Amino acid sequence: MCGIVGYTGSRQALPLVLEGLRRLEYRGYDSAGIAVLDGAGGLKIAKKAGVLANLDGHLGSGSLALAGRAGIGHTRWATHGGPTDRNAHPHTGGSGKVAVVHNGIIENFAALRADLESAGTRMRSDTDTEVVAHLLAAAYRDGPTAGDLPACMAAVCRKLEGAFTLVAAHADVPSVLVAARRNSPLVVGVGEGEMFVASDVSAFIAHTRDAIELGQDQLVVITPDSAEITSFAAAEPDFKRFRVDWDVAAAEKGGFSTFMEKEIFEQPVAVERTLLGHFDGSGVVLDEQRLGVRELRTVDKVYVVACGTAYHSGLVAKYAIEHWTRLPVEVELASEFRYRDPVLGRDTLVVAISQSGETADTLEAVRYARRQRARVLAVCNTNGSQIPRESDAVLYTRAGPEVGVAATKTFLAQVTANYLVGLALAQARGTKSRGEVAWEYAALSRMPEAVAATLTVMGPVRDLARELAHSPAVLFLGRHVGYPVALEGALKLKELAYMHAEGFAAGELKHGPIALIENGLPVVVTMPSPKSRPILHSKMLSNIREIQARGARTIVVAEEFDDTVAPFADYLIELPRVPALFQPLVAAIPMQIIAAEIARSRGYDIDKPRNLAKSVTVE
Ligand code: M6R
Repeated sequence: MCGIVGYTGSRQALPLVLEGLRRLEYRGYDSAGIAVLDGAGGLKIAKKAGVLANLDGHLGSGSLALAGRAGIGHTRWATHGGPTDRNAHPHTGGSGKVAVVHNGIIENFAALRADLESAGTRMRSDTDTEVVAHLLAAAYRDGPTAGDLPACMAAVCRKLEGAFTLVAAHADVPSVLVAARRNSPLVVGVGEGEMFVASDVSAFIAHTRDAIELGQDQLVVITPDSAEITSFAAAEPDFKRFRVDWDVAAAEKGGFSTFMEKEIFEQPVAVERTLLGHFDGSGVVLDEQRLGVRELRTVDKVYVVACGTAYHSGLVAKYAIEHWTRLPVEVELASEFRYRDPVLGRDTLVVAISQSGETADTLEAVRYARRQRARVLAVCNTNGSQIPRESDAVLYTRAGPEVGVAATKTFLAQVTANYLVGLALAQARGTKSRGEVAWEYAALSRMPEAVAATLTVMGPVRDLARELAHSPAVLFLGRHVGYPVALEGALKLKELAYMHAEGFAAGELKHGPIALIENGLPVVVTMPSPKSRPILHSKMLSNIREIQARGARTIVVAEEFDDTVAPFADYLIELPRVPALFQPLVAAIPMQIIAAEIARSRGYDIDKPRNLAKSVTVE
């Protein structure tokens, strides 16, 4: 939700922390702040509401005042307290010698705050974080472990409930930073004579690719030459060392004007890399698959749980998995799943899809499923994040880092990974022969080419999108796998262009939503293939006629050489012909382009849509 970074080493901390914040800004952009230890017992702070550029502007030529070789920084997505200067992190405690940055929510902060206030502490912000700063300052000053920052941090963490990654700096120990985590991510970057801590590796990838991922309830003390990990709870520390397998170029815009645009163009590679190594000549193999063939064979029901775009990828999975395996598949919004008493058992497979691997709703759904003894398979883009850590097995989508808040390449990678899950299940259960699985996999392997071909014909779609920029609303229709594509098209438009948009199953239109159609309303329709889905195709043609008769402006996404559709399309977008189940991999692309281009025409920042953050670590 928020991005945090810390540095200690031989270089000036300020530029390194600011650079880290720039790469983490996708996590929140309500405010940014930094604290630097000057090495002479001083702690300097600068913070500003709004995007990081505001802090940069505020620092201006005054940045010399923040000289020092250790520092912490924060980029915020507001939860407790509005997005103001005073609520921006870092927060200080005591006499201002300790500074804290925080990602997450301290659920018992109100009680802790009341205790502090009744003991005479004057609060300077409305945040939950400030409570931690005061508790830490008090523990350091005169608690049982006074003067021992790591021990004080551990003691404070034991009092906290909820989700937190915390990094603290104290003016008395100028080259030491102490960080801790529970239910929120924290990685250490191990450099040569320097150390980093951050919410994710992109913050330090330009300086080191050697990293350590902290486990639950752990605390790390970094100095320029060491990283010492302990647990602040009863458990043994279970951290993991790893080497990041992508480089700084992947976290840069690479010549594109926005990350989203770059990520749209990375989609062929995202699909290709997600497939890579998952077929060994005789069948589909899944990595980190701690579920054996025997367990897959006994599965009698599949639940897919996810949020937002990941949920839409799960809806696509339903069509493929049911078709290939004959298993019943239910797709649930993760935020609803555990509140409605779903029927789960040992033979239920729960597929939890999450780009970030830290979405709180999905994580809680995973925990719920495991408590009910279901087996959980995570489909995730972030190596070692919490959701895969808590699942029985993981299939990584290898889309690389996605910085744009709107999911694009990770949607295609999730859809691809879900097909692999379906094929692995079909293979284990024998509902598809090895030959059939090989055939489907071969067809899937040709999809990167189709995705690349689709991207080459998007020029006119951009022109169309600019024309749509002044429409009051846009509707999206689909049938079969085109339905999740419609939902995804509407979500992209809402989050990027702040425009009213709805996705509907086309057959449902006549049951109410058709009343929305009025003269000139743009309706984007994804057509099923006339060859492989002739019945659905003709029903869809009827739906188009119905809305055209009521004045809709029809924008039809159809496969190339579908001659029947042209008379009903006010605007036709032609896509390469692909197997029917795989159509979302190409049909989602015009939806992304339309949303991005409308947003751009309306003057919005498409990488940082308002009110949003890339990962949602609160329920
Ligand atoms: O990291 P996750 O895949 O779990 O995130 C789920 C949703 O928050 C995410 O897909 C969100 O809907 C995107 N911003 C949509 O573009």
